[in-house]
Amino acid sequence: RNGYAPDWDTMYIHQDLEDRDDFLTDIFPRDFAWGTATSAYQVEGGWNEDGKGPSIWDKFSHDGRIANRQTGDVACDSYHKYREDVKMLKMIGVMINMSWLTPVSHYRFSIAWSRVMADGTLRTVNAKGVHYYNNLIDELLANNIEPMVTLYHWDLPLALQDLGGFQNDSIVDYFNDYARFCFSMFGDRVKLWITYNEAFVVSWLGYGIGVFAPGVSSADTGVYKVAHNIIRSHVKAYHTYDDHFRSKYHGQVGITLDCDWKEPLTFDAENRYAAERALQFKLGWFANPIFGASDFLGLNHYTTNLVRHLERDINWHSYESDQDIDTSESPCWNRSRSDWLRVNPWGLRRLLKWVKDRYGNPPVYVTENGVSDDGEIQDESRSRFYRLYINEMLKAIKRDGCDVKGYMAWSLMDNFEWTSGFTQKFGLFNVNFDDQNRPRKPKNSVSAYSKIISDNGFPL
Ligand code: NOJ
Repeated sequence: RNGYAPDWDTMYIHQDLEDRDDFLTDIFPRDFAWGTATSAYQVEGGWNEDGKGPSIWDKFSHDGRIANRQTGDVACDSYHKYREDVKMLKMIGVMINMSWLTPVSHYRFSIAWSRVMADGTLRTVNAKGVHYYNNLIDELLANNIEPMVTLYHWDLPLALQDLGGFQNDSIVDYFNDYARFCFSMFGDRVKLWITYNEAFVVSWLGYGIGVFAPGVSSADTGVYKVAHNIIRSHVKAYHTYDDHFRSKYHGQVGITLDCDWKEPLTFDAENRYAAERALQFKLGWFANPIFGASDFLGLNHYTTNLVRHLERDINWHSYESDQDIDTSESPCWNRSRSDWLRVNPWGLRRLLKWVKDRYGNPPVYVTENGVSDDGEIQDESRSRFYRLYINEMLKAIKRDGCDVKGYMAWSLMDNFEWTSGFTQKFGLFNVNFDDQNRPRKPKNSVSAYSKIISDNGFPL
């Protein structure tokens, strides 16, 4: 596909607002992928079992950086309960003609780098860690569920952080070794690979403002070096797959980027430019250089921000990219349990259209979308959330011609929500974190999601 060509004349022009609130009765393409997502550190536990090395999140949580000093040491115990995880995926199903139909076709999970290589290098390959992922993959396939595997969902081996982590250019080769190792171990069965989850968050929260592990704050250009190394290592791993695995395994390699929709506060040109800048500094930062070296774009989307231009002199020596942009939330949008997440379904449609226009309509998987609450089983607001966001995604396909290939609900179950610990629940299934022997319980939203996907949308 074409690289990004900045063209300020054809910049974002406000779409018509007419069909914001209508509901589309139609169905998704026949081979649309439906699934749920999790990540290793958020669900696995077993943080030091069977030869797993420590990661930056093990350290960060052990250092007491999480709400209520919680850790992911046990999390949902998926390291021991992966069979139950797969059973839950099966339970997102319906009874048709006296037989159980499981419409979930995909499960997105991540590999913990330090579980398969204790210090992150080929010197410390851990057979038991490899065995765990082989078991999980085989269990999924035995149940007709396709794995979509994220290589990096934030849990860098601590030994690599000791070398500087993403600030050290050596990460590009270490990541490539790791990716090549995973392609060769699992590539016969895994056909959908995601190199990085949320490159922006890894860079900005991890090494810019330092609120996430490894907790490095760089008041200079350090964060740009981190982002640059992520981009380089994605591209290198992509070519590794292309050169050595594609002809044999016929899989695809993409990257997952996170982006809220940025809606101009008013339609004035300066606020529209500001909204465009906000999108460029978030998604474009990574997508502009990468699109061309990726088979698909994974998109994590949750919420919308209102954007206003600020009349302010820019300090070109500061690392902050958005000094002339102010963002806020509309008070009209429902809140969630997470302060950054307000419910605004049509933002998803706009974002998909923006991606289509900017990058030549690449194949997109929505690799995360979901909402947090306190974990109630009666979670009507989550059911409504899924119905409305998924309907906007359908409009993006049917009315705007976006090439959306699949949708992964975040998350299969309540889990470790990073610095918020276990206080914000995104799951379709409830987990009892005080007593892991209690069975995981389906929330009401399981049947809502199951209905949508077994209908493959919203038929008349
Ligand atoms: C994005 C992250 O990828 C995921 O790990 C996190 O739990 C969700 N957003 C919700 O915040």
